[in-house]
Amino acid sequence: MNAEIPGHSPEADRPESPQPGAHTAGGPVAQGPAAVVVLAAGAGTRMKSRTPKILHELGGRSMVAHALAAARGLEPQRLAVVVRHERDRVAEHIAGLDAAALIVDQDEIPGTGRAVEVALDALAAQSALEGTVVVTYGDVPLLSTGLLRELVARHEDEGNAVTVLTAVLDDAHGYGRILRDEDGAVAAIREHKDATSDEREVREVNSGIYAFDARVLADALRRVTTDNAQGEKYLTDVLAIAREAGGRVAALVTEDRWQVEGANDRVQLQALAAEHNRRTVEAWMRAGVTVIDPASTWIDGTVRLAEDVTIKPNTQLHGQTVIERDAVVGPDTTLTDVVVGEGANVRRTDGTKAQIGPGATVGPFTYLRAGTVLGADGKIGAFYETKNAQIGRGAKLSHLGYVGDAEVGEGTNIGCGNITANYDGVNKHRTVIGAHVRTASNTVFVAPVTVGDGAYTGAGAVVRKDVPAGALALSVAPQRNAEGWTEARRPGSPSALAAAAARAEVSPPASSPTTEEGK
Ligand code: UD1
Ligand code: CA
Repeated sequence: MNAEIPGHSPEADRPESPQPGAHTAGGPVAQGPAAVVVLAAGAGTRMKSRTPKILHELGGRSMVAHALAAARGLEPQRLAVVVRHERDRVAEHIAGLDAAALIVDQDEIPGTGRAVEVALDALAAQSALEGTVVVTYGDVPLLSTGLLRELVARHEDEGNAVTVLTAVLDDAHGYGRILRDEDGAVAAIREHKDATSDEREVREVNSGIYAFDARVLADALRRVTTDNAQGEKYLTDVLAIAREAGGRVAALVTEDRWQVEGANDRVQLQALAAEHNRRTVEAWMRAGVTVIDPASTWIDGTVRLAEDVTIKPNTQLHGQTVIERDAVVGPDTTLTDVVVGEGANVRRTDGTKAQIGPGATVGPFTYLRAGTVLGADGKIGAFYETKNAQIGRGAKLSHLGYVGDAEVGEGTNIGCGNITANYDGVNKHRTVIGAHVRTASNTVFVAPVTVGDGAYTGAGAVVRKDVPAGALALSVAPQRNAEGWTEARRPGSPSALAAAAARAEVSPPASSPTTEEGK
Protein backbone atom coordinates (compact mmCIF):
# COMPACT_ATOMS: atom_id res chain seq x y z
CA MET A 1 0.00 0.00 0.00
CA ASN A 2 1.36 3.40 -0.86
CA ALA A 3 1.47 5.34 2.34
CA GLU A 4 1.31 9.03 1.85
CA ILE A 5 3.98 10.16 4.21
CA PRO A 6 4.58 13.85 4.80
CA GLY A 7 7.87 15.24 3.61
CA HIS A 8 9.13 15.61 7.12
CA SER A 9 8.69 13.64 10.28
CA PRO A 10 8.76 14.78 13.90
CA GLU A 11 12.05 13.05 14.36
CA ALA A 12 13.56 14.12 11.08
CA ASP A 13 16.98 14.41 12.63
CA ARG A 14 16.80 10.95 14.17
CA PRO A 15 16.93 7.95 11.90
CA GLU A 16 14.19 5.57 12.87
CA SER A 17 16.45 2.62 13.05
CA PRO A 18 20.19 2.52 12.97
CA GLN A 19 21.44 0.96 9.79
CA PRO A 20 23.78 -1.86 10.54
CA GLY A 21 26.23 -2.36 7.75
CA ALA A 22 26.19 1.26 6.64
CA HIS A 23 29.40 1.77 8.55
CA THR A 24 31.27 -1.32 7.57
CA ALA A 25 33.82 -1.51 4.79
CA GLY A 26 32.31 -0.52 1.47
CA GLY A 27 29.54 1.52 3.08
CA PRO A 28 29.32 5.30 2.97
CA VAL A 29 32.20 7.05 4.71
CA ALA A 30 31.14 8.46 8.08
CA GLN A 31 31.53 12.23 8.32
CA GLY A 32 30.99 12.70 12.03
CA PRO A 33 33.20 12.46 15.13
CA ALA A 34 35.79 9.73 15.63
CA ALA A 35 33.58 7.92 18.13
CA VAL A 36 30.52 8.12 20.31
CA VAL A 37 30.64 6.27 23.63
CA VAL A 38 27.22 5.49 25.15
CA LEU A 39 27.35 4.69 28.87
CA ALA A 40 24.94 1.94 29.87
CA ALA A 41 26.63 -0.06 32.62
CA GLY A 42 24.61 1.29 35.55
CA ALA A 43 22.21 -0.89 37.51
CA GLY A 44 19.15 1.36 37.56
CA THR A 45 17.96 -0.01 40.90
CA ARG A 46 15.34 2.70 41.36
CA MET A 47 13.25 1.27 38.52
CA LYS A 48 12.57 -1.72 40.83
CA SER A 49 12.29 -3.97 37.84
CA ARG A 50 13.50 -7.26 36.47
CA THR A 51 13.93 -5.44 33.18
CA PRO A 52 17.21 -3.51 32.96
CA LYS A 53 16.54 0.23 33.14
CA ILE A 54 17.68 1.11 29.64
CA LEU A 55 15.36 -1.53 28.15
CA HIS A 56 12.30 0.22 29.55
CA GLU A 57 10.34 1.83 26.72
CA LEU A 58 8.84 5.15 25.82
CA GLY A 59 7.43 6.32 22.52
CA GLY A 60 7.54 2.78 21.17
CA ARG A 61 11.17 1.89 21.78
CA SER A 62 13.64 1.31 24.56
CA MET A 63 15.55 4.16 26.18
CA VAL A 64 18.79 2.79 24.78
CA ALA A 65 17.25 2.59 21.29
CA HIS A 66 16.54 6.32 21.52
CA ALA A 67 20.12 6.93 22.72
CA LEU A 68 21.62 4.84 19.90
CA ALA A 69 19.47 6.52 17.25
CA ALA A 70 20.59 9.97 18.42
CA ALA A 71 24.23 8.83 18.51
CA ARG A 72 24.08 7.08 15.12
CA GLY A 73 22.56 10.20 13.61
CA LEU A 74 25.91 11.96 14.19
CA GLU A 75 27.46 9.45 11.78
CA PRO A 76 30.41 8.69 14.03
CA GLN A 77 33.23 6.61 12.62
CA ARG A 78 32.74 4.22 15.52
CA LEU A 79 30.14 3.71 18.21
CA ALA A 80 30.79 1.93 21.52
CA VAL A 81 28.32 1.04 24.26
CA VAL A 82 29.61 0.27 27.76
CA VAL A 83 27.67 -2.44 29.60
CA ARG A 84 27.88 -4.33 32.86
CA HIS A 85 24.56 -4.70 34.69
CA GLU A 86 22.51 -7.56 33.11
CA ARG A 87 25.28 -7.69 30.58
CA ASP A 88 24.01 -10.46 28.28
CA ARG A 89 20.45 -9.24 28.03
CA VAL A 90 21.52 -5.66 27.39
CA ALA A 91 24.20 -6.67 24.87
CA GLU A 92 21.73 -8.80 22.91
CA HIS A 93 19.21 -5.98 22.80
CA ILE A 94 21.87 -3.52 21.58
CA ALA A 95 23.15 -5.94 18.93
CA GLY A 96 19.57 -6.25 17.66
CA LEU A 97 19.29 -2.47 17.34
CA ASP A 98 22.69 -1.68 15.92
CA ALA A 99 24.81 -4.56 14.74
CA ALA A 100 27.80 -2.27 14.13
CA ALA A 101 27.99 -1.02 17.74
CA LEU A 102 31.02 -2.19 19.70
CA ILE A 103 29.92 -3.64 23.03
CA VAL A 104 32.45 -2.97 25.77
CA ASP A 105 32.39 -4.57 29.23
CA GLN A 106 33.15 -2.38 32.22
CA ASP A 107 35.20 -4.10 34.93
CA GLU A 108 34.64 -3.92 38.69
CA ILE A 109 36.12 -0.43 38.98
CA PRO A 110 33.08 1.85 39.31
CA GLY A 111 32.37 5.24 37.84
CA THR A 112 31.65 7.06 34.61
CA GLY A 113 35.38 7.78 34.17
CA ARG A 114 36.19 4.08 34.28
CA ALA A 115 33.36 3.33 31.86
CA VAL A 116 34.81 5.75 29.29
CA GLU A 117 38.34 4.49 29.93
CA VAL A 118 37.45 0.87 29.08
CA ALA A 119 35.65 2.09 25.95
CA LEU A 120 38.70 4.07 24.81
CA ASP A 121 40.92 1.03 25.41
CA ALA A 122 38.63 -1.19 23.36
CA LEU A 123 38.41 1.35 20.52
CA ALA A 124 42.19 1.95 20.54
CA ALA A 125 42.75 -1.81 20.38
CA GLN A 126 40.87 -1.79 17.04
CA SER A 127 42.72 1.20 15.61
CA ALA A 128 44.17 4.51 16.75
CA LEU A 129 41.58 6.93 18.10
CA GLU A 130 42.07 10.57 17.18
CA GLY A 131 39.78 13.57 17.00
CA THR A 132 36.48 14.11 18.75
CA VAL A 133 34.94 11.57 21.13
CA VAL A 134 31.36 12.21 22.23
CA VAL A 135 30.04 10.68 25.47
CA THR A 136 26.30 10.17 26.04
CA TYR A 137 24.09 8.08 28.36
CA GLY A 138 21.82 5.17 27.55
CA ASP A 139 19.12 6.53 29.86
CA VAL A 140 18.67 10.04 28.37
CA PRO A 141 16.03 9.28 25.74
CA LEU A 142 14.99 12.71 24.45
CA LEU A 143 18.49 13.81 23.45
CA SER A 144 18.46 14.58 19.72
CA THR A 145 21.08 14.25 17.04
CA GLY A 146 20.54 17.97 16.38
CA LEU A 147 21.73 18.98 19.84
CA LEU A 148 24.68 16.57 19.65
CA ARG A 149 25.65 18.12 16.31
CA GLU A 150 25.56 21.56 17.90
CA LEU A 151 27.81 20.30 20.70
CA VAL A 152 30.34 18.80 18.27
CA ALA A 153 30.31 21.89 16.02
CA ARG A 154 30.96 24.18 18.99
CA HIS A 155 33.71 21.87 20.28
CA GLU A 156 35.51 21.64 16.96
CA ASP A 157 35.02 25.27 15.90
CA GLU A 158 36.52 26.52 19.16
CA GLY A 159 39.28 23.89 19.23
CA ASN A 160 38.27 22.85 22.75
CA ALA A 161 39.80 20.07 24.82
CA VAL A 162 36.41 19.44 26.43
CA THR A 163 32.93 20.84 25.72
CA VAL A 164 30.25 19.85 28.22
CA LEU A 165 26.52 20.12 27.62
CA THR A 166 24.89 21.87 30.58
CA ALA A 167 21.47 23.11 31.66
CA VAL A 168 20.30 25.56 34.31
CA LEU A 169 17.75 23.91 36.59
CA ASP A 170 15.52 25.24 39.36
CA ASP A 171 16.32 22.14 41.39
CA ALA A 172 19.88 21.00 40.78
CA HIS A 173 19.87 18.46 43.62
CA GLY A 174 21.90 15.36 42.86
CA TYR A 175 23.60 16.67 39.74
CA GLY A 176 27.25 17.55 39.24
CA ARG A 177 27.55 21.36 39.41
CA ILE A 178 29.41 23.47 36.85
CA LEU A 179 32.04 25.60 38.63
CA ARG A 180 33.13 28.68 36.68
CA ASP A 181 36.07 31.06 37.36
CA GLU A 182 35.85 34.86 37.71
CA ASP A 183 35.89 35.16 33.91
CA GLY A 184 32.96 32.80 33.63
CA ALA A 185 35.05 30.04 32.05
CA VAL A 186 34.28 26.47 33.09
CA ALA A 187 36.83 25.43 35.71
CA ALA A 188 35.53 22.11 37.03
CA ILE A 189 32.53 19.91 37.77
CA ARG A 190 31.78 19.14 41.40
CA GLU A 191 29.61 16.12 42.19
CA HIS A 192 26.71 16.85 44.53
CA LYS A 193 28.04 14.51 47.21
CA ASP A 194 31.44 16.20 47.14
CA ALA A 195 30.17 19.78 46.94
CA THR A 196 30.30 22.44 49.67
CA SER A 197 27.05 24.18 50.58
CA ASP A 198 28.14 27.19 48.49
CA GLU A 199 28.81 24.97 45.50
CA ARG A 200 25.41 23.38 45.94
CA GLU A 201 23.85 26.81 45.34
CA VAL A 202 25.00 26.57 41.71
CA ARG A 203 22.08 25.78 39.41
CA GLU A 204 24.04 25.06 36.24
CA VAL A 205 24.39 21.29 36.05
CA ASN A 206 26.39 18.72 34.13
CA SER A 207 24.18 16.76 31.73
CA GLY A 208 26.81 14.02 31.48
CA ILE A 209 27.03 14.59 27.72
CA TYR A 210 30.32 15.85 26.37
CA ALA A 211 32.61 16.23 23.38
CA PHE A 212 36.27 15.52 24.16
CA ASP A 213 39.50 15.58 22.28
CA ALA A 214 40.43 11.90 22.24
CA ARG A 215 44.01 12.34 23.33
CA VAL A 216 43.22 14.78 26.14
CA LEU A 217 40.53 12.41 27.37
CA ALA A 218 42.77 9.32 27.38
CA ASP A 219 45.62 11.17 29.12
CA ALA A 220 43.35 12.72 31.74
CA LEU A 221 41.53 9.48 32.55
CA ARG A 222 44.86 7.86 33.43
CA ARG A 223 45.23 10.51 36.13
CA VAL A 224 41.69 10.34 37.55
CA THR A 225 41.55 8.66 40.97
CA THR A 226 38.72 7.23 43.07
CA ASP A 227 39.49 9.63 45.91
CA ASN A 228 36.01 11.11 46.39
CA ALA A 229 32.79 10.71 48.36
CA GLN A 230 31.62 7.76 46.25
CA GLY A 231 34.95 5.97 45.70
CA GLU A 232 34.36 6.07 41.93
CA LYS A 233 36.43 7.12 38.97
CA TYR A 234 34.59 10.28 37.93
CA LEU A 235 34.55 11.30 34.27
CA THR A 236 33.81 14.80 35.53
CA ASP A 237 37.34 15.09 36.95
CA VAL A 238 38.66 15.20 33.37
CA LEU A 239 37.58 18.83 32.99
CA ALA A 240 39.83 20.26 35.71
CA ILE A 241 42.71 18.03 34.64
CA ALA A 242 42.37 19.13 31.00
CA ARG A 243 42.26 22.76 32.03
CA GLU A 244 45.36 22.45 34.23
CA ALA A 245 47.12 20.91 31.27
CA GLY A 246 46.36 24.07 29.28
CA GLY A 247 43.35 22.85 27.30
CA ARG A 248 40.27 24.97 26.60
CA VAL A 249 37.18 23.79 28.49
CA ALA A 250 33.78 25.18 27.53
CA ALA A 251 30.08 24.56 28.07
CA LEU A 252 27.15 24.53 25.69
CA VAL A 253 24.14 25.56 27.77
CA THR A 254 20.86 24.14 26.47
CA GLU A 255 17.50 25.73 27.17
CA ASP A 256 15.79 22.42 26.49
CA ARG A 257 16.14 20.56 29.78
CA TRP A 258 14.14 17.58 28.51
CA GLN A 259 16.91 16.69 26.11
CA VAL A 260 19.38 16.16 28.94
CA GLU A 261 17.02 14.57 31.44
CA GLY A 262 17.65 10.97 32.46
CA ALA A 263 15.13 8.48 33.78
CA ASN A 264 16.11 6.93 37.08
CA ASP A 265 12.68 5.72 38.20
CA ARG A 266 9.26 5.13 36.69
CA VAL A 267 7.99 8.59 37.61
CA GLN A 268 10.75 10.22 35.55
CA LEU A 269 10.26 7.67 32.77
CA GLN A 270 6.57 8.55 32.53
CA ALA A 271 7.33 12.28 32.52
CA LEU A 272 9.80 11.77 29.67
CA ALA A 273 7.31 9.57 27.80
CA ALA A 274 4.62 12.23 28.14
CA GLU A 275 6.99 14.91 26.87
CA HIS A 276 8.14 12.70 23.99
CA ASN A 277 4.50 12.16 23.10
CA ARG A 278 3.65 15.84 23.45
CA ARG A 279 6.44 16.69 21.01
CA THR A 280 5.45 13.94 18.58
CA VAL A 281 1.76 14.93 18.57
CA GLU A 282 2.60 18.61 18.19
CA ALA A 283 4.92 17.89 15.27
CA TRP A 284 2.14 15.92 13.51
CA MET A 285 -0.34 18.72 14.07
CA ARG A 286 2.17 21.12 12.48
CA ALA A 287 2.48 18.63 9.62
CA GLY A 288 -1.27 18.82 8.93
CA VAL A 289 -2.86 16.23 11.21
CA THR A 290 -5.92 17.12 13.31
CA VAL A 291 -5.58 15.74 16.82
CA ILE A 292 -8.75 16.39 18.79
CA ASP A 293 -7.29 15.60 22.22
CA PRO A 294 -3.47 15.51 22.39
CA ALA A 295 -3.57 14.54 26.08
CA SER A 296 -5.28 11.20 25.37
CA THR A 297 -3.50 10.51 22.07
CA TRP A 298 -0.29 8.48 22.13
CA ILE A 299 1.80 8.20 18.99
CA ASP A 300 5.04 6.25 18.77
CA GLY A 301 7.99 7.91 17.08
CA THR A 302 7.86 5.24 14.37
CA VAL A 303 4.28 5.98 13.22
CA ARG A 304 3.64 7.90 9.97
CA LEU A 305 0.62 10.11 9.29
CA ALA A 306 -0.47 11.95 6.16
CA GLU A 307 -1.94 15.43 5.88
CA ASP A 308 -5.62 15.83 6.75
CA VAL A 309 -5.72 12.74 8.93
CA THR A 310 -7.97 13.17 11.99
CA ILE A 311 -7.18 11.44 15.27
CA LYS A 312 -10.02 11.35 17.81
CA PRO A 313 -9.60 11.03 21.62
CA ASN A 314 -8.19 8.00 23.42
CA THR A 315 -6.27 6.70 20.46
CA GLN A 316 -2.89 4.93 20.60
CA LEU A 317 -0.86 4.45 17.44
CA HIS A 318 2.09 2.12 17.72
CA GLY A 319 4.94 0.56 15.79
CA GLN A 320 4.91 0.80 12.01
CA THR A 321 1.36 2.13 11.81
CA VAL A 322 0.71 4.33 8.78
CA ILE A 323 -2.45 6.45 8.36
CA GLU A 324 -3.11 7.78 4.90
CA ARG A 325 -4.74 11.01 3.83
CA ASP A 326 -8.24 12.00 5.06
CA ALA A 327 -8.59 8.91 7.23
CA VAL A 328 -10.34 9.31 10.59
CA VAL A 329 -9.09 7.15 13.46
CA GLY A 330 -10.70 6.95 16.90
CA PRO A 331 -12.14 7.49 19.33
CA ASP A 332 -10.93 4.69 21.60
CA THR A 333 -8.73 2.94 19.10
CA THR A 334 -5.40 1.15 19.48
CA LEU A 335 -3.50 0.27 16.32
CA THR A 336 -0.14 -1.52 16.19
CA ASP A 337 1.54 -2.00 12.81
CA VAL A 338 -1.70 -1.22 10.99
CA VAL A 339 -1.96 0.56 7.64
CA VAL A 340 -5.11 2.66 7.27
CA GLY A 341 -5.93 3.67 3.69
CA GLU A 342 -6.97 7.04 2.39
CA GLY A 343 -10.34 8.23 3.65
CA ALA A 344 -10.94 5.15 5.80
CA ASN A 345 -12.80 5.42 9.11
CA VAL A 346 -11.71 3.33 12.11
CA ARG A 347 -13.44 3.76 15.45
CA ARG A 348 -13.37 1.91 18.77
CA THR A 349 -11.09 -0.70 17.28
CA ASP A 350 -8.16 -2.79 18.49
CA GLY A 351 -5.96 -3.75 15.55
CA THR A 352 -2.58 -5.41 15.05
CA LYS A 353 -0.70 -6.11 11.82
CA ALA A 354 -3.71 -5.37 9.65
CA GLN A 355 -4.36 -3.38 6.48
CA ILE A 356 -7.48 -1.31 6.03
CA GLY A 357 -8.19 -0.27 2.45
CA PRO A 358 -9.04 3.22 1.23
CA GLY A 359 -12.59 4.28 2.03
CA ALA A 360 -13.18 1.26 4.27
CA THR A 361 -14.94 1.45 7.63
CA VAL A 362 -14.11 -0.47 10.78
CA GLY A 363 -15.85 -0.51 14.16
CA PRO A 364 -17.23 0.15 16.61
CA PHE A 365 -15.98 -2.61 18.94
CA THR A 366 -13.92 -4.46 16.38
CA TYR A 367 -10.89 -6.65 16.90
CA LEU A 368 -8.56 -6.91 13.91
CA ARG A 369 -5.90 -9.53 14.45
CA ALA A 370 -2.76 -10.21 12.45
CA GLY A 371 -3.20 -10.79 8.75
CA THR A 372 -6.50 -8.98 8.34
CA VAL A 373 -6.57 -7.25 4.96
CA LEU A 374 -9.72 -5.25 4.26
CA GLY A 375 -10.23 -4.11 0.67
CA ALA A 376 -11.18 -0.66 -0.53
CA ASP A 377 -14.62 0.51 0.62
CA GLY A 378 -15.10 -2.68 2.63
CA LYS A 379 -16.59 -2.86 6.09
CA ILE A 380 -15.89 -4.78 9.27
CA GLY A 381 -18.57 -3.72 11.70
CA ALA A 382 -19.63 -3.99 15.30
CA PHE A 383 -18.46 -6.86 17.49
CA TYR A 384 -16.41 -8.54 14.79
CA GLU A 385 -13.14 -10.41 15.17
CA THR A 386 -10.97 -11.15 12.17
CA LYS A 387 -7.66 -12.95 11.78
CA ASN A 388 -5.61 -13.88 8.74
CA ALA A 389 -8.51 -12.87 6.53
CA GLN A 390 -8.51 -11.21 3.11
CA ILE A 391 -11.73 -9.28 2.66
CA GLY A 392 -12.38 -8.11 -0.90
CA ARG A 393 -13.18 -4.68 -2.22
CA GLY A 394 -16.60 -3.48 -1.07
CA ALA A 395 -17.27 -6.64 0.96
CA LYS A 396 -19.15 -6.20 4.23
CA LEU A 397 -18.90 -8.06 7.52
CA SER A 398 -21.41 -5.89 9.27
CA HIS A 399 -22.18 -7.28 12.69
CA LEU A 400 -21.38 -9.95 15.26
CA GLY A 401 -19.04 -12.55 13.94
CA TYR A 402 -15.68 -14.16 13.48
CA VAL A 403 -13.81 -14.56 10.23
CA GLY A 404 -10.44 -16.31 10.48
CA ASP A 405 -8.19 -18.08 7.98
CA ALA A 406 -10.54 -16.96 5.26
CA GLU A 407 -10.91 -15.17 1.98
CA VAL A 408 -14.06 -13.17 1.21
CA GLY A 409 -14.57 -11.99 -2.37
CA GLU A 410 -15.38 -8.60 -3.76
CA GLY A 411 -18.86 -7.20 -3.05
CA THR A 412 -19.85 -10.09 -0.80
CA ASN A 413 -22.20 -9.43 2.12
CA ILE A 414 -21.70 -11.60 5.16
CA GLY A 415 -24.85 -11.66 7.32
CA CYS A 416 -25.18 -11.01 11.02
CA GLY A 417 -23.64 -13.56 13.34
CA ASN A 418 -21.72 -15.56 10.73
CA ILE A 419 -18.61 -17.39 11.79
CA THR A 420 -15.89 -19.40 10.16
CA ALA A 421 -15.34 -22.55 12.20
CA ASN A 422 -11.68 -22.71 11.27
CA TYR A 423 -10.33 -24.92 14.04
CA ASP A 424 -11.12 -28.60 14.42
CA GLY A 425 -9.30 -28.79 17.74
CA VAL A 426 -6.04 -29.83 16.09
CA ASN A 427 -5.60 -27.95 12.82
CA LYS A 428 -6.69 -24.64 11.30
CA HIS A 429 -8.51 -24.73 7.96
CA ARG A 430 -9.38 -22.15 5.32
CA THR A 431 -12.73 -20.85 4.23
CA VAL A 432 -12.93 -19.38 0.75
CA ILE A 433 -16.03 -17.33 -0.08
CA GLY A 434 -16.41 -15.94 -3.60
CA ALA A 435 -17.52 -12.59 -4.97
CA HIS A 436 -21.04 -11.13 -4.56
CA VAL A 437 -22.10 -13.87 -2.18
CA ARG A 438 -25.01 -13.15 0.23
CA THR A 439 -24.99 -15.11 3.45
CA ALA A 440 -27.96 -15.08 5.80
CA SER A 441 -27.79 -14.62 9.57
CA ASN A 442 -26.02 -17.20 11.68
CA THR A 443 -24.34 -19.06 8.88
CA VAL A 444 -21.49 -21.25 10.09
CA PHE A 445 -18.75 -22.13 7.60
CA VAL A 446 -17.15 -25.40 8.69
CA ALA A 447 -13.67 -25.17 7.15
CA PRO A 448 -12.19 -26.31 4.90
CA VAL A 449 -15.01 -25.15 2.68
CA THR A 450 -15.48 -23.10 -0.50
CA VAL A 451 -18.48 -21.02 -1.52
CA GLY A 452 -18.75 -20.07 -5.21
CA ASP A 453 -19.40 -16.60 -6.64
CA GLY A 454 -22.95 -15.32 -6.37
CA ALA A 455 -24.08 -18.08 -3.98
CA TYR A 456 -26.57 -17.52 -1.14
CA THR A 457 -27.04 -19.25 2.21
CA GLY A 458 -30.19 -19.60 4.28
CA ALA A 459 -30.50 -18.41 7.86
CA GLY A 460 -28.72 -20.67 10.30
CA ALA A 461 -27.04 -22.70 7.55
CA VAL A 462 -24.18 -24.90 8.67
CA VAL A 463 -22.08 -25.04 5.51
CA ARG A 464 -20.06 -28.26 5.62
CA LYS A 465 -19.92 -28.95 1.89
CA ASP A 466 -18.69 -26.69 -0.89
CA VAL A 467 -21.40 -24.49 -2.39
CA PRO A 468 -21.32 -24.12 -6.20
CA ALA A 469 -21.51 -20.67 -7.77
CA GLY A 470 -25.04 -19.32 -7.75
CA ALA A 471 -26.48 -22.02 -5.45
CA LEU A 472 -28.56 -21.44 -2.30
CA ALA A 473 -27.18 -23.47 0.60
CA LEU A 474 -29.79 -24.62 3.12
CA SER A 475 -28.95 -27.01 5.90
CA VAL A 476 -31.77 -26.58 8.39
CA ALA A 477 -34.63 -29.05 8.96
CA PRO A 478 -38.15 -27.73 8.18
CA GLN A 479 -39.80 -26.01 11.14
CA ARG A 480 -42.67 -27.73 12.96
CA ASN A 481 -45.02 -25.89 15.37
CA ALA A 482 -46.43 -27.96 18.24
CA GLU A 483 -49.68 -26.08 18.73
CA GLY A 484 -50.84 -25.46 22.32
CA TRP A 485 -47.56 -26.74 23.75
CA THR A 486 -47.14 -23.97 26.36
CA GLU A 487 -50.58 -24.32 27.92
CA ALA A 488 -50.18 -28.12 28.06
CA ARG A 489 -46.65 -28.27 29.38
CA ARG A 490 -46.35 -25.03 31.39
CA PRO A 491 -49.87 -24.69 32.73
CA GLY A 492 -50.50 -21.61 34.86
CA SER A 493 -47.24 -19.96 33.86
CA PRO A 494 -47.29 -16.32 32.70
CA SER A 495 -46.47 -17.63 29.22
CA ALA A 496 -49.41 -20.03 29.24
CA LEU A 497 -51.77 -17.28 30.42
CA ALA A 498 -50.50 -14.91 27.73
CA ALA A 499 -50.87 -17.62 25.11
CA ALA A 500 -54.44 -18.42 26.21
CA ALA A 501 -55.39 -14.73 26.11
CA ALA A 502 -53.90 -14.28 22.64
CA ARG A 503 -55.74 -17.35 21.31
CA ALA A 504 -59.03 -16.24 22.81
CA GLU A 505 -58.76 -12.99 20.82
CA VAL A 506 -58.18 -14.58 17.42
CA SER A 507 -60.08 -17.88 17.57
CA PRO A 508 -61.99 -20.16 19.88
CA PRO A 509 -59.71 -22.29 22.11
CA ALA A 510 -58.18 -25.28 20.34
CA SER A 511 -59.80 -28.55 21.14
CA SER A 512 -56.73 -30.15 22.65
CA PRO A 513 -52.97 -29.60 22.47
CA THR A 514 -51.05 -32.07 20.37
CA THR A 515 -48.92 -34.51 22.31
CA GLU A 516 -45.95 -33.86 20.10
CA GLU A 517 -43.21 -31.84 21.72
CA GLY A 518 -41.48 -29.06 19.86
CA LYS A 519 -37.77 -29.57 19.99
C1 UD1 B 1 26.59 11.73 36.51
C2 UD1 B 1 27.65 12.81 36.57
C3 UD1 B 1 27.02 14.09 37.07
C4 UD1 B 1 25.88 14.50 36.16
C5 UD1 B 1 24.86 13.35 36.05
C6 UD1 B 1 23.83 13.68 35.00
C7 UD1 B 1 29.75 11.72 37.05
C8 UD1 B 1 30.76 11.38 38.07
N1 UD1 B 1 28.71 12.40 37.44
O1 UD1 B 1 26.13 11.52 37.83
O2 UD1 B 1 28.00 15.13 37.09
O3 UD1 B 1 25.25 15.66 36.66
O4 UD1 B 1 25.53 12.14 35.65
O5 UD1 B 1 22.85 12.70 34.98
O6 UD1 B 1 29.97 11.39 35.89
N2 UD1 B 1 27.56 4.51 34.22
C9 UD1 B 1 28.37 3.53 33.72
N3 UD1 B 1 29.31 2.98 34.53
C10 UD1 B 1 29.47 3.38 35.83
C11 UD1 B 1 28.63 4.39 36.32
C12 UD1 B 1 27.69 4.95 35.49
O7 UD1 B 1 28.25 3.14 32.56
O8 UD1 B 1 30.33 2.82 36.50
C13 UD1 B 1 26.54 5.09 33.35
C14 UD1 B 1 25.12 4.86 33.87
O9 UD1 B 1 24.57 3.68 33.31
C15 UD1 B 1 24.40 6.10 33.42
C16 UD1 B 1 25.49 7.16 33.39
O10 UD1 B 1 26.72 6.47 33.34
O11 UD1 B 1 23.89 5.95 32.10
C17 UD1 B 1 25.43 8.07 34.59
O12 UD1 B 1 25.57 7.31 35.75
P1 UD1 B 1 24.87 7.75 37.10
O13 UD1 B 1 25.28 6.82 38.15
O14 UD1 B 1 23.45 8.00 36.87
O15 UD1 B 1 25.65 9.14 37.33
P2 UD1 B 1 25.27 10.24 38.36
O16 UD1 B 1 25.82 9.88 39.66
O17 UD1 B 1 23.83 10.55 38.24
CA1 CA C 1 21.76 9.57 36.69
